[in-house]
Amino acid sequence: MARSAIINVMVQAAMKAGRSLARDFGEVQNLQVSMKGPGDYVSAADRRAEQIVHQELSRARPGYGFLMEESGAIDGEDGQHRFLVDPLDGTTNFLHGIPIFAVSIGLERQGQLVAAVIFNPAMDELYTAERGGGAFLNDRRLRVAARKNLSDCVIATGIPHLGRGDHGQALVELRNVMGDVSGIRRAGSAALDLAWVAAGRYDGFWEHGLSPWDIAAGVLLVREAGGFATDQKGDHEVVDKRDIVAGNEAVHKALLKALARPA
Ligand code: IPD
Ligand code: CA
Ligand code: CA
Repeated sequence: MARSAIINVMVQAAMKAGRSLARDFGEVQNLQVSMKGPGDYVSAADRRAEQIVHQELSRARPGYGFLMEESGAIDGEDGQHRFLVDPLDGTTNFLHGIPIFAVSIGLERQGQLVAAVIFNPAMDELYTAERGGGAFLNDRRLRVAARKNLSDCVIATGIPHLGRGDHGQALVELRNVMGDVSGIRRAGSAALDLAWVAAGRYDGFWEHGLSPWDIAAGVLLVREAGGFATDQKGDHEVVDKRDIVAGNEAVHKALLKALARPA
């Protein structure tokens, strides 16, 4: 599969950071059993991965801007392009030795998502998408699942936890959706949740309280795999909205409806 120059640049950055995370993940698994625990080690791994991504991308595309989870916004001279970077999505999984985490890099041109790379080094899965060019897992073209009835669907979500989000709203939404579907999953990486919707593993996904770096790349993957990704009001301008609903056309519509049901 021939990849464009910009996808190659993003893949190289994601894979280099991913290899660094994979080495640190091995160490975290050893640290699990120590008294001190791996918390500080994970923060260092996260920062290291972000530095690698930033270094690689700014060397290849010097004028581009950045929005990165750890370092925040860095304006670029060209004013047209912005990378949205989560160097480690799925931190809690990483900390607990669960191999579901990823490097996520999206690219906007004039505010429009144009390229996406998500890499899970523990599963050696590389997801790529380019606007108008389709979505891929490694070299395989992706298509969202075709199921139309929620009753056949496995739907992913993110459940808020200690100190985060609206627990009451989450319980209402879970109750609304659980009665309609064949399964709900909470894997712990929004970037991979979206990539797995693009890959047809999940039929849909919803979550609140997300940041642009969590979803930028995943949103383009879903769309390029033929799916829909909007905020909870159905607005397609979703990257800065904090909440997301994704799936094929029918599932996306049904999820929006189920989520809007009153308590
Ligand atoms: C988190 C993951 C998780 C989602 C959280 C995010 P992080 O990102 O994507 O699945 O439920 O809301 O903050 O902290 O692991 O980069
Ligand atoms: Ca994240
Ligand atoms: Ca992160």
